[in-house]
Amino acid sequence: MKTEILQPTEENIAKCAAALQAGELIGMPTETVYGLAGLAFQNESLLKIFSSKSRPHFDPLILHVALGKATTADLMCEGLFNPDEMSDEAIRKIDLLIRNFWPGALTLILPKKKIVPDLATSGLPSVAVRMPAHPVAIDLIRMADSPLCAPSANQFGRISPTTAEATLKEMDGKIPYILDGGPCLKGIESTIIEVTEDGDVKCLRLGSLEIEKIEALLGEKIKKISIDAHEKNLKAPGQLQNHYAPKKPLYLLDRPLKELNSLPSFFQNIKNPKKMGLITIQGNVEELRILANEMFECEVYPISLSEKGDWNECAKNLFSSLRSLDESDCEFILSEPITEKMRLENGLAYAIEDRLKKASKK
Ligand code: TXA
Ligand code: MG
Repeated sequence: MKTEILQPTEENIAKCAAALQAGELIGMPTETVYGLAGLAFQNESLLKIFSSKSRPHFDPLILHVALGKATTADLMCEGLFNPDEMSDEAIRKIDLLIRNFWPGALTLILPKKKIVPDLATSGLPSVAVRMPAHPVAIDLIRMADSPLCAPSANQFGRISPTTAEATLKEMDGKIPYILDGGPCLKGIESTIIEVTEDGDVKCLRLGSLEIEKIEALLGEKIKKISIDAHEKNLKAPGQLQNHYAPKKPLYLLDRPLKELNSLPSFFQNIKNPKKMGLITIQGNVEELRILANEMFECEVYPISLSEKGDWNECAKNLFSSLRSLDESDCEFILSEPITEKMRLENGLAYAIEDRLKKASKK
């Protein structure tokens, strides 16, 4: 199959909606990352999603919806969400979250209705739902006249694509069309929040909606699953440790380069390195190059996620930076870490740290 990138004209979106209805998958832009979209209520489309990504079937999908006013009542009407066992407190919180953050980078884990296919939820009694904030995604969902399941459009375990071109690299030959909605504004996946029957709120995946905004809205502290310790008790099964990974080895430093007193230990095992990629979170690229040239006897390709220290820009640039280093002639990638000061500064620091830690796990 030849994969074509299409401009998001009304005609092309209609063409993609027709392809979806015929059981094909579409590369769909969202504000977070590009998704691999298929009809949520068609098992054949769902099976294709898993096979095109080589994704294990135990890893459930997010249903993408396009609601009118975005209220829990709308969700119930869509027949996705079953409020029967939910306390008033739980419903109140879900309603607040939906009204305030949809459309947007918030995925809610809710008790599912029977009609939601087990294939989409990997047999779990809950369903993940979000309304994306991208006009092309909304138009596509509306024209397809169905919620769309859409995991990030990367091969399982790899870097999520944030442009139509990167989506093509991941899905070439597997899907007919990719709608080009431009580079993703957020650059990191949605934040996944579970509201339990009695109204407890937990964060299952750190993402591009800052947790402190959710805490401010609900007036409570939200339990963040620990970045290292949740594999044993997996609530979001896709949150495996080795995710978002470049093909080249990525080493995460435990402190910024300028605080290193000696070469990091892994470096001793690299024989005659010629060129390395180097990521700084918010440092200056030229300063980093000078420092790195003093420390390492090899050529350096430095990237700063945001020289001006803007957290939104850091998130937006993370996956595209990993991708360009992966495609460069560097042999391996070194990244400076998220520091305690950064964590205190902005909630996106946690989401970036989560992705870097997972990308560096082998
Ligand atoms: O920003 C996003 O959320 C992107 C865009 C395309 O919308 N999508 C995305 O999908 O990141 P994916 O499939 O790459 O990640 C979905 C995550 C997985 O970790 C999965 O385990 C979790 O959501 N998930 C889905 N349903 C769940 C459920 N019922 N309970 C717990 N976790 C669930
Ligand atoms: Mg993913």
